[in-house]
Amino acid sequence: MTFDTATYQKHSARVETEDIDFATFRDQPLEPDALRCLRYMHDVESHTVCYLRDVLVTRAHRDPDITSFLTMWNYEEYWHGDAIGRVLAAHDEVAGTSRIAALRQRLPKGDRWRPLGFQVASALTPHLTAVHMTWGAVNEWTTQAAYARLVKLADHPTLATLLKRIMKQEGRHIDFYASQADGRLANSRAAQRVTRWALRKYWAPVGTGVVDDTEVDFLRTYLFGDEDGRSMAERIDRRVDRLPGLGGLHLLTDAVAA
Ligand SMILES: [Fe+2]
Ligand SMILES: [Fe+2]
Repeated sequence: MTFDTATYQKHSARVETEDIDFATFRDQPLEPDALRCLRYMHDVESHTVCYLRDVLVTRAHRDPDITSFLTMWNYEEYWHGDAIGRVLAAHDEVAGTSRIAALRQRLPKGDRWRPLGFQVASALTPHLTAVHMTWGAVNEWTTQAAYARLVKLADHPTLATLLKRIMKQEGRHIDFYASQADGRLANSRAAQRVTRWALRKYWAPVGTGVVDDTEVDFLRTYLFGDEDGRSMAERIDRRVDRLPGLGGLHLLTDAVAA
């Protein structure tokens, strides 16, 4: 598994929305459950810069391959949040800066200590970057699967066009994180042990701790609670299983069952 940063630099861009007619949502609005999902996705995409903050305080910032990728990744995720915000706005929902400001005000008090926690963890183990890269792969796999499920469940052509474009970019994010995770885990049994321990102890679906727990539960049930959703969760678990030393964690199937 390899990732070519130069090719990614060439393709990295703001997700194309110029030709998307957001006014179609006025005539054909989304169902309330699909909108509820999009609120979650808007909030999580818009939170990417805060996840970036937590990575940059660790020794990962010394790796130029990682920082080059993260620069473009953050930019693309920003525009994912913005595009989803335009769908919400077409339904007269609050989106963008005012929604993000309110969300950040509601973050748990412990959020301010997260960078310090990551700094300390980075000083204690040289393998935190392996954990971050693996965590990123799992979250990007999950995000892409969530969009695929929403395309199917919402059954709305304009939304499908937008989300498939976003999914294409998520695919490149997956390629980066999975190749980094694979390489770092293959090189070190200690990295495997630390990453396995961290995922088992701390991993939770992306958005946990940022949006309300009721919304995490809703998304988990709505997107992954039926047979198709469960088989998608199993597929992600099989991808995790293929990473060196990470077999049998069942992160996604356990999260869905919970
Ligand atoms: Fe995204
Ligand atoms: Fe992504």
